[in-house]
Amino acid sequence: MPVNLQIDLGGLTMKNPVTVASGTFGYGAEYADYFDVSQLGAVTVKSLSLEPRSGNVPPRIVETPSGMLNAIGLQNVGMETYLREKLPFLREKKCVIIANIYGSGPEAYASLASRLEAEGGADAIEANLSCPNVHDAQNARGGSLVAQHPDQVALYTQAIREATKLPVFIKLSPNVTDIVEPALAAQEAGADAVSLINTLIGMAIDSETRKPRISNIVGGLSGPAIRPVALKMVWDVSRALHIPVLGMGGIATADDAVQFLLAGARAVAIGCASFRNPDAALKVVQGIENYCQQHGISDVNELVGAVKL
Ligand SMILES: Cc1cc2nc3c(=O)[nH]c(=O)nc-3n(C[C@H](O)[C@H](O)[C@H](O)COP(=O)(O)O)c2cc1C
Repeated sequence: MPVNLQIDLGGLTMKNPVTVASGTFGYGAEYADYFDVSQLGAVTVKSLSLEPRSGNVPPRIVETPSGMLNAIGLQNVGMETYLREKLPFLREKKCVIIANIYGSGPEAYASLASRLEAEGGADAIEANLSCPNVHDAQNARGGSLVAQHPDQVALYTQAIREATKLPVFIKLSPNVTDIVEPALAAQEAGADAVSLINTLIGMAIDSETRKPRISNIVGGLSGPAIRPVALKMVWDVSRALHIPVLGMGGIATADDAVQFLLAGARAVAIGCASFRNPDAALKVVQGIENYCQQHGISDVNELVGAVKL
């Protein structure tokens, strides 16, 4: 039985509902030895800033039970190098590109978005308002994340919205009391979709040396450990919003991905699971199709929000 896997994510057409999570898939070419990355619904690139960033000093990652902590600190090549050296591969492969952006202040996000649109550098923009590992810009109020303040989320979203006609996705943080509030703020300010979740802030200490295991002291927790939290947040947000949700957080298999679709996500992103299995995202695409075939579902969109209560 043929299955329609195509979905519309806030104006972005994806041939299947699977992308990768920013920061876990480089700029796409890094995984080209493992599979044809154009088979994904979209490739989401590492957060891009206007200038290159070297990130935090090592150690920046540590394995934790069923997950990992990272404090990379948004190391990236910067806009110019992305456009010159990374984009041609993605365009040549005809990948759908979600460009994740990070900047200091709404104006920086706006200029990243308009530059990407002008240079054909993205098919959609995902604004990272939720990185826990930087100390400079995203300190809307004394070191906290923009995504922790609905009024700031609205301000940033509006600036990006005015700067581009590309679909705009706002990436939210789980490090809040109620993620629905910033999600609603993003929707009201003109976002086309919301992406969730970014990492949960955590910490690990080496009891022998008594030192934190990462130089940044704290980092972002990802992997299967956070999956139930992410699933619940996707469920909450998708019921409260009319714009679609891009769900992520600990997804490693097609079964995990189907759970996110059933909870209300229109599409899913595979994050650090790609570190263990470089072709994890492709396997999820194939597994979702198999699931649909086995369950007599002709259109993957039928799964979205179809959890039986
Ligand atoms: C090493 C690493 C780097 C990351 N870098 C970024 C980033 O640059 N921008 C961003 O929006 N999210 C970043 N994230 C967060 C992921 O995109 C994703 O939201 C999070 O890891 C949860 O998904 P997962 O549990 O499937 O990995 C990063 C995560 C990891 C593990």
